[in-house]
Amino acid sequence: MRVLIRKDYEEMSKTAAKIVADLIRRKPNCVLGLATGSTPIGMYEELIRMHKEEGLDFSQVVTFNLDEYYGLPPDHPQSYRYFMDEHLFKHINIKPENTHVPDGTVPIDRIDEYCRRYEEMIKEAGGIDLQVLGIGRDGHIAFNEPGSSLSSRTRLVALDEQTRKDNSRFFKSIDEVPRAAITMGVGTILEARCCMLLASGEGKAEVVAKAIEGPVTSQITASALQLHPNVIVILDEAAASKLERKDYYLYTERMFEELGKPLV
Ligand code: GLP
Repeated sequence: MRVLIRKDYEEMSKTAAKIVADLIRRKPNCVLGLATGSTPIGMYEELIRMHKEEGLDFSQVVTFNLDEYYGLPPDHPQSYRYFMDEHLFKHINIKPENTHVPDGTVPIDRIDEYCRRYEEMIKEAGGIDLQVLGIGRDGHIAFNEPGSSLSSRTRLVALDEQTRKDNSRFFKSIDEVPRAAITMGVGTILEARCCMLLASGEGKAEVVAKAIEGPVTSQITASALQLHPNVIVILDEAAASKLERKDYYLYTERMFEELGKPLV
C-alpha cells in the first residue's frame, strides 16, 4: 500500500485528482470506478477545474459507480445517480451513456439478474482501471458492511444502523434513509487494477488505522485492500493521526522523491 499523507482536505483532493487526471491523459478511454459520499467531492471539483481550465478530456472515459440506495429513483436528490450528475458528470464532457450507476428501482424479483449484468458490463468495458473509494466509520467500502464476505459480488445488502445514522445528515430524518442498497462486492472491488482510498478528518482516524494496519477481517471490509497488489491511500493529517507507521509512510514518499521515482 502506498500511503500518502497530505496537510488537509484540499491537498488530499488535489493529489487524488492528479492521479485520476494522469490516468486519463495516459489512457483516454480508461474505466473509472467512482464513489459518492462527502470525501471525494473536493477531488471531483478539482477534476472539473482541470476539465475547464486545462482541457482534461472525458469524452472517451467510462465510469461505474460503486453503489446506489435501493428504492431511490435516479432523480431523487439523495440518490447516488443524482449526486454524480450534480457533483461531476454535468460539468464535464463525459458521454451520459458511458456513466453507470446501479439502478435503485430494479424490481426485487429481477435484482440478482441485474447485479450479475452490472458485473458483466464492467467486464465488457475491459475492467476497472482505477477504483476510487471512501471509507465508512464502520470500515465499509462501497456498502459492504461489517461481515460482508471478502469475495462478495455486486448484490442487494441491508444497511447497518450506524451507516444509516451517518448518512441521515443528507436526509430530512433517519426514517427517510433507505434500509437497503445495491453495492459492488468486496471481490468486485478487488478486481480493479488499482484502488485509491481517500479519507479525511479525525472521525475516520481510528477506522483508517484498523483498515491499513490491523488484521484483514470481514468486520472492516476496507482491510481487504491489504490483499490487493496496487493500492494508493490518500489521507489528510487528521485521518492519518492514529497510524502507527505514519513516519515510515512519510519517509517512503521522501525517499522516492529523492530517488526520482514516482511513488504512484
Ligand atoms: C457511504 C458510501 C461509501 C462512502 C461512505 C463514506 O456509505 N456508500 O461509498 O465511502 O459513505 O462517506 P463520507 O465520505 O461522506 O464519509
